[in-house]
Amino acid sequence: MASVLIAGGRVLDPASGLDRAADVAVKDGKIAAIGPGLARPGVDRVINAEGCLVTPGLIDPHVHLREPGQEHKETIASGARAAVAGGFTTVCCMPNTSPALDTPELVRFVLGRGEQSAARVFPVAAISKQRRGNELAEISLMARAGAVGFSDDGDCVASAGLMARALAVVKPTGLAIMQHAQDPTLTKGASMHAGEIALKLGLGGWPRVAEEVIVERDIRLNRGIGCRYHVQHISSGETVAILRRARAEGQPVSGEASPHHLLLTHEACIGADGLGYNTMAKVNPPVRETSDMKALREGIADGTITVLATDHAPHTDSEKALPFEEAPFGLVGLETALALYIEALVSSGVIGWMKLVQLMTVGPAKLCGLDRMGLGRLEVGGPGDVTVIDPEVKWTIGQKDLVGASNNTPFLGRKVKGRAIATVVGGEVKWEGGR
Ligand code: DOR
Repeated sequence: MASVLIAGGRVLDPASGLDRAADVAVKDGKIAAIGPGLARPGVDRVINAEGCLVTPGLIDPHVHLREPGQEHKETIASGARAAVAGGFTTVCCMPNTSPALDTPELVRFVLGRGEQSAARVFPVAAISKQRRGNELAEISLMARAGAVGFSDDGDCVASAGLMARALAVVKPTGLAIMQHAQDPTLTKGASMHAGEIALKLGLGGWPRVAEEVIVERDIRLNRGIGCRYHVQHISSGETVAILRRARAEGQPVSGEASPHHLLLTHEACIGADGLGYNTMAKVNPPVRETSDMKALREGIADGTITVLATDHAPHTDSEKALPFEEAPFGLVGLETALALYIEALVSSGVIGWMKLVQLMTVGPAKLCGLDRMGLGRLEVGGPGDVTVIDPEVKWTIGQKDLVGASNNTPFLGRKVKGRAIATVVGGEVKWEGGR
């Protein structure tokens, strides 16, 4: 395996607090040295990181890779290519595939495909059989097979009885339950945030409370159990307040934010020129109002939200061309998330670089137990996963930047700043470009 020297950058490692000008040497798949002026002779490849941030490989704990079953939208290999182009060295994929990831065999299938891909890929397995919300899936066997968390994402575990059992059964695995919080009895027929714009567009509204009641309920169910409980793609400002209170009580709860909930409001669902609809902004849970965006940003700044995730959800152009109510929920995010987070959080002064990197490395690694494999930090002898970020490069998000198999994003044409210019996975340069 070729050796790589990432030279002359500012090395940021939130796990150890390291923030200094240094080189990073990667050899035989591992970090070989971190320090200023490392020797170049014998190095196979030098990456010039002057003016760049050199960070642990970014981790996205929430993506949809559509394999098995919908490979025309994304495969594990194409999703992994999108990941490394966005600076991610590891992604954790959701179980709403066809069939659903609800057996140890399917967990092993994803791990096997991941091994042949550009990024590390770990499956989050289903909580219930076929994600139907009725019967628990083979939790312990799937944990043993290598699942890194449990979720019925795409759907909520709506039954309190099933959630209580799931919390109890997942607890001894040490992994987290990740809840797609949405009481389906409150969102039936809804396709966007319940507010002024839904009324204007004549669309069914999706109230914040649909998310909040599930999070309140689950936290209460978990009081006597103490399983790790994580709220996926938070959309409501009040959910942040609920999590803040639970964390202050010492409960093992966490939450994640996605780029679109930090940058878009329900107005994004209106079509270009104020006419018609924009299905690219149709997402579950929906983008809401400025007050929610503000509360999410505050939750990130004060440490209530510890994880950033893309919820990368590829769909075909023809599906997104359907009328708003029929079009599928979701948008792709792997290639664009880093720049969008920089805009929403760093350029706007909500947090600094170290904290951003922490939310994209340490936070997700801990959530999915990947810290036990040494992922999410830069450490001599640890995995050679490194992301090089040019914080100054300006670019406009275009079709050519979407290297995955689908194009559904409302951010096409947006002018952004900051980009991964090199992504090293297990000591191999899997992406270089973007400048
Ligand atoms: O918008 C979404 N799309 N939210 C989800 O929870 C599922 C995802 C998908 O699979 O398309």
